[in-house]
Order: sequence, then C-alpha cells, then structure tokens
Amino acid sequence: MQDLNKLWKIFKDKFTDTGLTKGAFSAPGRVNLIGEHTDYNDGFVLPMAIEKEIVMLGQLRNDRRVRVFDLGYNTEIDFSLDKLIPLRKNTWANYLMGVVDEIQKAGYILQGANLIFRSNIPRKAGLSSSAALEVVTALAMAELNSLKIEPVKMACLCQQAENNFVGVACGIMDQYVSCLGQKNYALFIDCRFNDYELISFKNHNYRIVICNSKIQRSLVNSEYNRRREECKRATDFFTHRLGSKIRALRDVTIEEFKQCQEYLPEPIARRARHVITENYRVQIGVQALRMGNYSALGQLMIESHQSLKDDYEVSCAELDLLVDLALKQEGVLGARMTGAGFGGCTVNLLKRDYVNTFKKRIKKEYKKITGINPDIYITLPAEGAKVLELR
Ligand code: GLA
Repeated sequence: MQDLNKLWKIFKDKFTDTGLTKGAFSAPGRVNLIGEHTDYNDGFVLPMAIEKEIVMLGQLRNDRRVRVFDLGYNTEIDFSLDKLIPLRKNTWANYLMGVVDEIQKAGYILQGANLIFRSNIPRKAGLSSSAALEVVTALAMAELNSLKIEPVKMACLCQQAENNFVGVACGIMDQYVSCLGQKNYALFIDCRFNDYELISFKNHNYRIVICNSKIQRSLVNSEYNRRREECKRATDFFTHRLGSKIRALRDVTIEEFKQCQEYLPEPIARRARHVITENYRVQIGVQALRMGNYSALGQLMIESHQSLKDDYEVSCAELDLLVDLALKQEGVLGARMTGAGFGGCTVNLLKRDYVNTFKKRIKKEYKKITGINPDIYITLPAEGAKVLELR
C-alpha cells in the first residue's frame, strides 16, 4: 500500500484533480505450463498468472481525452476516444487504444481518463506484458466508468484489441489468465468454449522457475501469424477428408492424424502433429497434476519442448540451450520454452530444495556459452486482474 501512496503522489504531480472517480488496478503477466500454440486451434492450455504485474492508477476526465503516462519508459501519450488510429511511434499505446476501441465497439459508453502505470513484467520476454497492459486498461476503464464487464468478456475484448488494432492474430490464453488467474492455481482453459477449471498448484515441495534468455526476435509476429495460417491449411485438409465434424485441429485425434499424415505436405504435417499431440499432453498433464504426479507433468513438458522445436519450429538456439542446461541439473522435473517462442523464456518445474543451486548454475553456464546474463524468476501461481482501490 505504501507503494500505492507513492504512485498517487506521482499521479497528483502529473495531473490536476478532476474531482471525478479514481482508482488503482492491477493485472499480472503469465507463464504457460503446457499447451503452446493450441489456443487458436480451439484447444487446451494450462497457464498460470505470475507474481509480476502492471499497476495502473486512473481518474475520469470531463472530456473525451485519454492521457497516459508510462512510468517505466517515462513517456506520455494523449489521444481522443473519438479518433483511435494505431500509432507508429510509441507502439505500446496501441494496446491501450485498441482496448478502448473494442470496449466502445461493444456498445459501452466511455468518458476520458488520466492514467499512469508501472510494470515489473519484463517486456518482450514472452511473459505477456502486453496482455497485462490490455487487461489492466480494460479493468481501469470499465471500473472508472461504472461498467460491469464479466472477466471472460473482458479477456475477449482485449484479445480482439490485439487482433484488430495491434495486428497480432493471438489466441485467448494470455488475456484470459491475466483476467481470471487465481492464487495457488493453474487454469485449465478450454479455448473452444472459453471455460476453465482451476488446477491446484499448492504443493510446497515444487516450484516454477522461469529463465529469461534475454533474446528478443522481431520476427515473432510475422512467424506467429504464419503458423496460424499453416494450422488453417491443415484444418481445411482434415475437414475435406474427415467431414464437417472437424472445425479445428482440436477435433483431430492422433489416430486420424496418423492415417492421413502422408497426404499432408510439409511443413503442414509437422505443424498439425505438434498441435494435435500438444492437446493430448495438456489433458494428460492436467490429470497428472490432479493426482499430484509432478514428475509425469515434467516429462510432458520435456516432450512439449521437443515438439515445439522440431515440429512447430518456434524455438531458438538460446531457448534450446536453457532447456538442455536445465535438464542436466538435479531436482529438475521438466523444462520447456513458454509463450510464442523465438526467444523469451523457458518454464522449469523443480523440486523446491534445488532451486538455489539451479539458479546459480544456469546463470553461470548460460553466461559462459552465450555471453548473456539470463534473468531467473521464481514464482507461485498469482491472482488475476483486480481493483486495488476505487473512490
Ligand atoms: C502468444 C499468444 C497466445 C498463444 C501463445 C502460444 O503468447 O498471445 O495466444 O498462442 O503465444 O501458445
């Protein structure tokens, strides 16, 4: 709370008090335990919110302007609710503008606002700092304007903002878990029906450890959109062969895939194999977690990485190295890249007692080979977006 007081002080220095509703809000980043590139195939994912978040403070204005100050980058932008056009510079603002655009397109009436935000989610690291920015903006604008938007609906609006305004054809996972995450639980999300089940991750003997490769590749967005198109081609092939019961790769069984695989061109066959087998891995992984079988989940994470590397081709040398180094350490049950890929982070499942040695060794060995100092974060599943204050 003391921290919040500091932020309010900065807020007061920046903006004159309008006398209208004010509030403070937060939304977390996420890490995905298993189920990569399955969400936009109507499939299954198992992410959790992490203990890193964006905090946003805001106050309504009497007009239709939105002024936003990003404390991390010390930059400010100003836009009108009536003129929402994507920016070429300060592209971070597109996440906010996209969200207000979608809220308005959904028929809600908004008033302008003054906003500031601060983030401790590393950017472009595959931990969904942009989804968190979308979600915290949606929550702030909804609450300040006294709109009741259900969390799943809010996640969908944020996803649409990214699809339509930012131009990345992302699935629902990141925004969903940032909205609905819960302390001590991973979310088993069915991305066809947009519903979920909470899967307990309370076992104090295990930890989730995230390793940031510090590699950021600019091709993420174009390669991501290309994978989506490849999945669409695979789906069309299966619908043609197996009939209209196939609406997405989620509907294809491993058996059906094996029967048709030779008729699929490359790389489409491998892309489809990744998605189809990954959906199975998520479902088996969830069963394993329900029974407290952490080593089974770890094994599935290892297989997931292999599949992302060889079949889906979204890993990179540094992520593969982090996984290889991790699997050589004591106490590691599983390791894989997490998020879209091409850089960013790996997620590791560890026995708690080995965390400190793991951290030291990975830092040393990764640095020795790449010259890069990786960042390592230890986290338990955290709570999703929330209102910290409203007055
Ligand atoms: C990004 C997207 C998600 C999901 C992952 C890959 O994080 O935003 O929707 O597709 O990549 O699993």
